[in-house]
Amino acid sequence: MTDAGEAAELAALFDAARRVQAHAHAPYSRFAVGAALRTASGAIFAGCNVENAAYPEGICAETGAIAAMIAAGERIITHVVVIGDGVTPLTPCGACRQRLAEFGTLETRIYCSTSEGIGAPHLLGDLLPHAFSAHRLAEGRLRSQA
Ligand code: THU
Repeated sequence: MTDAGEAAELAALFDAARRVQAHAHAPYSRFAVGAALRTASGAIFAGCNVENAAYPEGICAETGAIAAMIAAGERIITHVVVIGDGVTPLTPCGACRQRLAEFGTLETRIYCSTSEGIGAPHLLGDLLPHAFSAHRLAEGRLRSQA
């Protein structure tokens, strides 16, 4: 793909994150987050944070975007844009790094951004080094006692 093509794809991902951020339900933290994922097929899925009066029941923007992706039958995340207001780029929380790792690769690009503009990409492998994964689970699973 050309540089111009990649820039246009990234702009579309940023726009999706920006649009969904406006729908955040964040009356408790008053901190709206938008996340948009691009999958291997080129499709885009977006989610915003949805808080709850029972605070621990709230979900992050990335979680909603992942749920939309899975519901649509997709599995492989190649690019992510996450947006929060303020001047510091929004980096995904620890739990969402693990959720992204379930469907991404070490090379999945995470653009930690603000609502003002897109940030520099980080590799998922740098944001969550030595991640726990299904490979490790398979290795340690109990053998049948039969
Ligand atoms: N939040 C996200 O949606 N994603 C993150 O990666 C960081 C935090 C949300 C959760 C909560 O609704 C609000 O931001 C404040 O923590």
